[in-house]
Amino acid sequence: MSVNGPVAIILAAGHGKRMKSEKAKVLHEVCGRPMIRYVVEAARGAGAKTVIVVVGYASDQVLQALSGEPDILFAFQTEQLGTGHAAKVCRPLLEGYSGPVMILVGDEPLLRPEPLADLLERQAQEQAACLLGTAKVHDPMGFGRILRDSAGRFLRIVEERDCTPEEKAIREVNPSCYVFELPVLWDALDRIDTSNAQNEYYLTDAPERLAAMGEKVIALNVLRGDDILGVNTRQHLAQADKVMQGRIQDHWMTEGVTIVDPLNTYIDGRATIGPDTVIYPFTVISGSVTIGARCRVGPLAHLRDGTALADGVEVGAFVEISRSSLEAGTVVRHLAYLGNAAVGRDVNIGAGTITANYDGVRKSETTIGARAFVGSGSIMVAPVSIGEGAVVGAGAVVTRGKDVPPGETVVGIPARPIGAGKPAS
Ligand code: UD1
Ligand code: MG
Repeated sequence: MSVNGPVAIILAAGHGKRMKSEKAKVLHEVCGRPMIRYVVEAARGAGAKTVIVVVGYASDQVLQALSGEPDILFAFQTEQLGTGHAAKVCRPLLEGYSGPVMILVGDEPLLRPEPLADLLERQAQEQAACLLGTAKVHDPMGFGRILRDSAGRFLRIVEERDCTPEEKAIREVNPSCYVFELPVLWDALDRIDTSNAQNEYYLTDAPERLAAMGEKVIALNVLRGDDILGVNTRQHLAQADKVMQGRIQDHWMTEGVTIVDPLNTYIDGRATIGPDTVIYPFTVISGSVTIGARCRVGPLAHLRDGTALADGVEVGAFVEISRSSLEAGTVVRHLAYLGNAAVGRDVNIGAGTITANYDGVRKSETTIGARAFVGSGSIMVAPVSIGEGAVVGAGAVVTRGKDVPPGETVVGIPARPIGAGKPAS
């Protein structure tokens, strides 16, 4: 198979011991999506034509998490012998390819495509065997440090564990965003060894080796703080989530959404929101949720995966909605649960209404027709349907399969048409 350049390799084979998790580190979620997906998108956005993900620890799960992404090649690193070794296992996939390869790590979900595109462009202009993006940070802890000579030329990268106290004070760090030229990188990788604190093959040694081979190596300080946050611990994960949440909210505000209290609102990366919608404090939107224009959501609402609100829908306090669609103009103001429900337009759902959608084995649907009025405190046991313009009286329990015809009014437990006589005893 011929490979189109530029190529991106994303290293994602490690366990991430510091996470103390059974899951592979790159599968931990930032704003609802596994970290690795953001990195794949950044690589693609920067112009990578071929993306190779190096997998190892829990590889099945990583493959599964990326199954929705088309055209990814996988390289398997069965033993995690270090980042240099991880890059090397891609060689068979890239046999015969010459040109640029961007190497990234799967634990930096905040990387944006723009600086990476910049790196690719500069590498091409400079015809460098290695162009290394660097960042100056306030707190360099955990990163490899960039060593330069007195003229400012790149010398090498030193991992924190291998640093002298003076080197530790250096604030220019290696975010692990490299563009290398192939095939010369393979020669450099053949020359790295494991003489370091972790006894691993470090990819960070490759630039120095290339320079020693007489190749052009440039370190450019083009990356900025947020982008390079590497997630090695749960604390980092929380930090990354916070930054990403800020970006997501910023995006929707730019698109015309009012978020009354950004710090007390949570919006999943997969959600979409229409203009002039107002999100009130303590609202959590998780999963793939679509919200139309001119909606009011919250305070204290929880919209879960598979929820779709059409234009002008109102969802108020202590309302949870999951896998349900609400047509335009429908109102659910207080204390309700709608699950697996298809609700027509201009419906009023009273306070405390519940769709009992789960019988302990399976989830069933509730259908509520346009302009229906569902009174407070009612329960609809699914599967059941409430016809257009029907009325369910306050406190009614509409039992499973006892569909309410259009225009009918039902009351009581179990719900019966109003005025219906007592059942014969
Ligand atoms: C690495 C860099 C460090 C840099 C930092 C930036 C090395 C030796 N160090 O350190 O200079 O500042 O990233 O975030 O490269 N991985 C594999 N196979 C392995 C080992 C790791 O695929 O054998 C993958 C991991 O899944 C992870 C990435 O490589 O996604 C980086 O590994 P990690 O252990 O997080 O390296 P850092 O200590 O962060
Ligand atoms: Mg890391």
